[in-house]
Amino acid sequence: MPKRQLVEKILALKAERGAIILAHNYQPPEIQDVADRLGDSLDLSRFAASAVEKVIVFCGVHFMAETAAILSPEKTILLPDPTAGCPMADMMRAEDLLALKKKHPGSVVVTYVNSTAEVKAETDICCTSANAMRVVQTVPEGQPIIFGPDKYLGGWVAAQTERKMILWQGYCPTHQKIHPEHILEQRRLHPAAFVMVHPEVNPAVASLADAVLGTGGMIACVEKSAGREFVVGTETGMVYRLQKKFPDREFFAATKHALCPNMKKITLEKVVNSLESLGPVIAVEPGVADRARRAIRAMLEIS
Ligand code: 13P
Ligand code: SF4
Repeated sequence: MPKRQLVEKILALKAERGAIILAHNYQPPEIQDVADRLGDSLDLSRFAASAVEKVIVFCGVHFMAETAAILSPEKTILLPDPTAGCPMADMMRAEDLLALKKKHPGSVVVTYVNSTAEVKAETDICCTSANAMRVVQTVPEGQPIIFGPDKYLGGWVAAQTERKMILWQGYCPTHQKIHPEHILEQRRLHPAAFVMVHPEVNPAVASLADAVLGTGGMIACVEKSAGREFVVGTETGMVYRLQKKFPDREFFAATKHALCPNMKKITLEKVVNSLESLGPVIAVEPGVADRARRAIRAMLEIS
C-alpha cells in the first residue's frame, strides 16, 4: 500500500480506537511524521503516564513500552513489533543483579531505564540519560551505588559526580559504532560545528565532544545555541528529528553506521496492524510491575 494511504489508514484507525501514537527520537522518519508525541525515554514515560487516551501505540523498543505498561497498567500499550528489543537491556538479568546486591549489602541500585521490568523490580531508583546525574546525586555520600546496565553512561556519571560506582558491564552496540576517528573526521569537514554525543558512547569518543547529552538534551542545546552546524553522535534517527525541528540549522551524523536495528523494526504497516488488531499488547506481571513502579516513580519525583 502506498505511504499516503497507510498514513490515512493510521489516522482513521487512531480516531476509531481513541489511541495515541508515541515515538522515540530514533524512530524512522515516516514514524516520526505520524506520531502525536516524539521524545526521549524520560519524556515519553511521563507522557504515557499522563495521557488520557486508553490505547497507546508505542513506537520504540520493548523496555520503553514496558515502562509505559508499568506506569499505566489500566491502559492498553501496543508495541507494533514485539521483537524490537534493546540488546543492552538484555545484558543485565535480575538474578545476577540480586547476586551483586548480596555481595554489596547496603548499596543503592540505580538502574538505567534501558532495562527489563524484572531488573527494575530489584532497583531502588531508575534514571534516564536526561536525569542520571541528578538521580545519583540524591544518593547520600558514602553509600555504595550499583549502576547498570550501561558501563559507559555509568562511568560518565561517576566521573561527573565524583562518586564511586559499581558498574555493570553492559553497553549499547549501536553507540559503540561511533569511533573517535568519526568525530575527528566530522570536525575536519565541519570545523565550525558543535559536537554533541550521547553518554552511551565510549569515553574516548565523549572526550572529543563539546557536550555529552541525551536526545532530549540535544534538542534543548540546539534551541539555546546560536550555532548553525552540529555533529550528532548518537543513533542516526536523531539527525532527522533535529533537522525537521530546526530547518535553519545543519546536522551531520557522526557516522551513518550508528543505526539501531531494533528501533528501525517499526514500520507504518506494523502500526496499521497494531491499531487494527489492538496487539501486540505489552503487559507486565502485576507483582513485578508493582515493585518496578516504585523505582520509576522515585525517579519521576526527583526530575
Ligand atoms: P534517550 O533517553 O536519550 O532518548 O536515549 C534512549 C536510548 O535508547 C539511547 O540509546
Ligand atoms: Fe538499546 Fe542502543 Fe538501541 Fe538505545 S540505541 S534502544 S540503547 S540498542
